[in-house]
Amino acid sequence: MSVTAVVGAQWGDEGKGKIIDVLAVGADMVVRGQGGNNAGHTVVIEDKKYALHLIPSGVLNPGTDNVIGNGVVLDPKGFFEELEALSADGVDVSRIFVSDRAHLVFPYHKEIDKLNEIAKGASGIGTTQMGIGPCYEDKAARIGLRAGDVLRPDRFAVKLADRIDAANDKIVKLLGGAALDKEAMLAEYVDYAKRLAPYVTDTGVLVDDAIKAGGRVLFEGAQGAMLDLDLGTYPYVTSSHPVSGGFTIGSGVGGRVIDEVVGITKAYTTRVGAGPFVTELLNATGDLIRERGHEYGTTTGRPRRCGWFDGVVVRYSARINGTTTTALMLLDVLDALDEINLCYAYEHEGREIVNFPSDLELLEEAKPLYRTVKGWNQDITGCRTYEDLPEAAKAYIAAIEEITGVPVGIVSVGPGRDQTIIRPGFHHTIMR
Ligand code: GDP
Ligand code: IMO
Ligand code: MG
Repeated sequence: MSVTAVVGAQWGDEGKGKIIDVLAVGADMVVRGQGGNNAGHTVVIEDKKYALHLIPSGVLNPGTDNVIGNGVVLDPKGFFEELEALSADGVDVSRIFVSDRAHLVFPYHKEIDKLNEIAKGASGIGTTQMGIGPCYEDKAARIGLRAGDVLRPDRFAVKLADRIDAANDKIVKLLGGAALDKEAMLAEYVDYAKRLAPYVTDTGVLVDDAIKAGGRVLFEGAQGAMLDLDLGTYPYVTSSHPVSGGFTIGSGVGGRVIDEVVGITKAYTTRVGAGPFVTELLNATGDLIRERGHEYGTTTGRPRRCGWFDGVVVRYSARINGTTTTALMLLDVLDALDEINLCYAYEHEGREIVNFPSDLELLEEAKPLYRTVKGWNQDITGCRTYEDLPEAAKAYIAAIEEITGVPVGIVSVGPGRDQTIIRPGFHHTIMR
């Protein structure tokens, strides 16, 4: 058995797409179990950049099956746009399977997402406005449409017509918006339903079969642990469970199948959207990190907020994910710094805090406690082995291991596939 979960250890955009692509070389199946096209996973292969949102990053590896599991919310329009763009780039998109239990995102979800944010004003979450929250709301309210509904076109059209009426009511009467055109939406989405039908199947069976046959299965996380609906910085979170536990509910197999959990972790911290961020740098160093790391959203283009590595966050993330290995990403972004700070605890009203708290006000008030290490001040993008790295970079990695309690098995020094250092001693079961 060889099942690996790849999860974001911070607030998303840690480089999950890159590592999934690297590990997918040896994988039989890549499975998404939560989120939707709020995700933006960038993969760079020989100067060509691919941005994946809904489709698992394993699609770039010929021969790998790609599963969109039951825990995902699927926007049919986004799905087909992404498929077409990949096809135009010559990517083989023939091995994609969509769970019959996955919920569908419609234009009214996006409209409600947008109007909710407007209504919240300054206290808005800063969502991607992809309709993710409203779609999961419908799922929890037990009124959503699922991908399996497209297999019965007549029933699909009736259900969708009902849902458009109810959504328009909410949009007009509660949120002060304008009603969406029902007939146009019905026509467009009945057509998408026809096109989606061939992809729809009971993907839980596929995942289970692959695991039982001894296949190498990768679970691809979207977002990051701190955006988890239960365990993240609520309410500044997404509406799904981006932690390793989310994969079992989101793919239809039990938790015991996961052998390894790789926590994808930036060598610093970023977040998009609102919410507390203790180590945020609102100064020239933050700007330097943003420019060197090209920290602008793959999905929305928004500038990402940047700050020092937050060990309290990553230690917490290791607990809630059961992380077995850290993949330390974008280390090269720090090449230009003379000194680097690492946060090992917070200070609040004279107390030292080592366990990430739920209280947002406390987080707003907390001060980071830093350990300062020397920068390496040299270009590491050409390093290909751990030994190639400068001593100061190795010391930084050792400090991260000590603060988080998790070994660093992978170090990434650039966006390319080849800019990935696998440390000796890290024998990943998925790699051939
Ligand atoms: P994801 O959502 O976790 O897949 O991450 P994103 O794709 O949203 O953001 C990560 C960005 O960093 C992408 O533009 C990647 O191409 C890039 N990237 C990944 N690893 C590295 C690295 O080690 N160094 C640099 N400079 N860029 C990287
Ligand atoms: P990947 O997979 C970073 C953030 C949004 C917002 C909050 C809620 O690329 O790492 P939502 O639209 O989900 O209701 O927005 O979550 N967010 C992400 N931030 N990376 C992502 O995905 C994200 N997906 C959602 O910015 O703060
Ligand atoms: Mg991203």
